Amino acid sequence: MIILKNISKKFGNHTALNSISLTIGEGEIHGIAGANGSGKSTLLNILFGNPVIRNTGGYSGDIFIHGRKAVIHIPKSSSDYGIGMIHQEFALIPDMSADENIALCREKTYALTEKIFGKNFALIDRRRTRDAANHIMESLGIHIESNLRVAHLPVNLKQFIAIAREISKENLSLLMLDEPTSALNRNDSEMLLNTVKKLSQKCCSVLYVSHRIEEMMNICDAITVLRDGKNIAQYHKKDEFDLDTISTAIVGERTVKAVRKASQRGSHPVMTFKNFSVNMPHEQISDLTMEIFRGEILGVTSLSGHGKSALGYGVTGFYETGGQVILENEKLDIADSRNTLSKGILFIPEDRREKGLLLSQSVMKNMVFTALQTSDNYYLHRFPLPFLSLIHHKNCRKYAEDSVEKFGINCRSVHQKTGELSGGNQQKVCIARACAVNPEILFISEPTRGVDIRAKEIILETLLDISENFGATVIISSGEIEELKRVCDRIAVLYKGKLFAVLSPEHSDKVFFQAMSGMA
Ligand SMILES: Nc1ncnc2c1ncn2[C@@H]1O[C@H](COP(=O)(O)OP(=O)(O)OP(=O)(O)O)[C@@H](O)[C@H]1O
Ligand SMILES: [Mg+2]
Repeated sequence: MIILKNISKKFGNHTALNSISLTIGEGEIHGIAGANGSGKSTLLNILFGNPVIRNTGGYSGDIFIHGRKAVIHIPKSSSDYGIGMIHQEFALIPDMSADENIALCREKTYALTEKIFGKNFALIDRRRTRDAANHIMESLGIHIESNLRVAHLPVNLKQFIAIAREISKENLSLLMLDEPTSALNRNDSEMLLNTVKKLSQKCCSVLYVSHRIEEMMNICDAITVLRDGKNIAQYHKKDEFDLDTISTAIVGERTVKAVRKASQRGSHPVMTFKNFSVNMPHEQISDLTMEIFRGEILGVTSLSGHGKSALGYGVTGFYETGGQVILENEKLDIADSRNTLSKGILFIPEDRREKGLLLSQSVMKNMVFTALQTSDNYYLHRFPLPFLSLIHHKNCRKYAEDSVEKFGINCRSVHQKTGELSGGNQQKVCIARACAVNPEILFISEPTRGVDIRAKEIILETLLDISENFGATVIISSGEIEELKRVCDRIAVLYKGKLFAVLSPEHSDKVFFQAMSGMA
């Protein structure tokens, strides 16, 4: 049993956690819900001994594990207590392969060398180490070539590698998962939830953080709701969970769902793909021939690895492409990304920490840095000679402050480093960056990943707004069918990298899932 007593944490003057007390029983799956910035990851980071906690003044309060007071200041001590964590943003070593990441610090060694030199200096038995790691991956149903570096893998595979690494720990008694399914599709999520249930049956306790309330209601024995760092409510499965009550407790009011009111889809194609292909590791698109119409909101969906994430990366030149992209009547030179941006084409990737943000820069800089690359914009002083243009700090600050207000971004000021924001708030900064550019064609991948239930609706409303009021064409790649159906005019379904069907939002979920599985 794990007991937390009066856990508090401050970052400077900001109180992230205010006297949290919790009891997690043996084999209990305990959910932590709350809006972006409510303190969920901070609580997990304290139990994990994340150095960021110590480096920012530590925490107060007590942790008891199996009746004994635990002192956790570094990850090694939490690991010794049998605590494992799946981080919200992947904590993998990008230049290592999947099996190397899984076995890291727990490599198998040759027994004889261990006897002679001791555990720390024994020779690593690479074959046994790789086999053990592969065995765990197989038990999770994943197959990854061992020569591929993790950096090149899509987010769903990275997530499974992180899980494989934690569940391979022999003394695991508490597993903490911070939004583990936000990057996963329905099948992958179910696989993960089953793994978590099996662990709890083996008496491993689980702390489970998610914005997917229904998923938590399905898997958790109890759900604690945090708001502004305080424990404001606790619900138990035995009393029956109620979606409405929990959702309202999280944001303090009922949320209104965003829906497409009037389609702005024109009759002229604004972008045409001709035999287009994208060669992204673990996710390819091949032979895509399709038109995107001016003003439409087009959804692109598929199972993970079947192509939905590759489209935006391909058009903006992140990976090798083939075939053609025609913009109006002119062939787009994909290799020239500045030219692509100057044509008003923008891509916001789902991997916000690696490819979507400058973490050491301020919220304001992140919001305007792409817009500053375009000519004649609101964020530069206008001079007759364009190369003399200076940044218009007042306009930049005004845009940033307005966006903080609009999206409800939880930050101290627009000058705070983006890396210090909670995961969902970072995602909102990405969306504000897209809006600053005023794009003609916006490719956006998993726009609501990791954001709370209210922010989700604000982001979807924003995408509707830039289509309906600014005439932009929006292409949303997402696995969230329910959301796509609410805001899109058409939804393209890819299967094995090929266009399998173009469905209307009226089609049933069953038709969508059949198409995603390649069934006509
Ligand atoms: N390293 C840091 N420095 C300064 N403030 C921080 C730091 N890490 C977190 N915070 C602040 O602490 C608060 C709680 O953040 P936390 O990451 O725990 O939120 P969260 O509930 O996990 O949100 P999300 O759902 O967006 O992941 C936020 O206001 C955040 O800005
Ligand atoms: Mg978090």
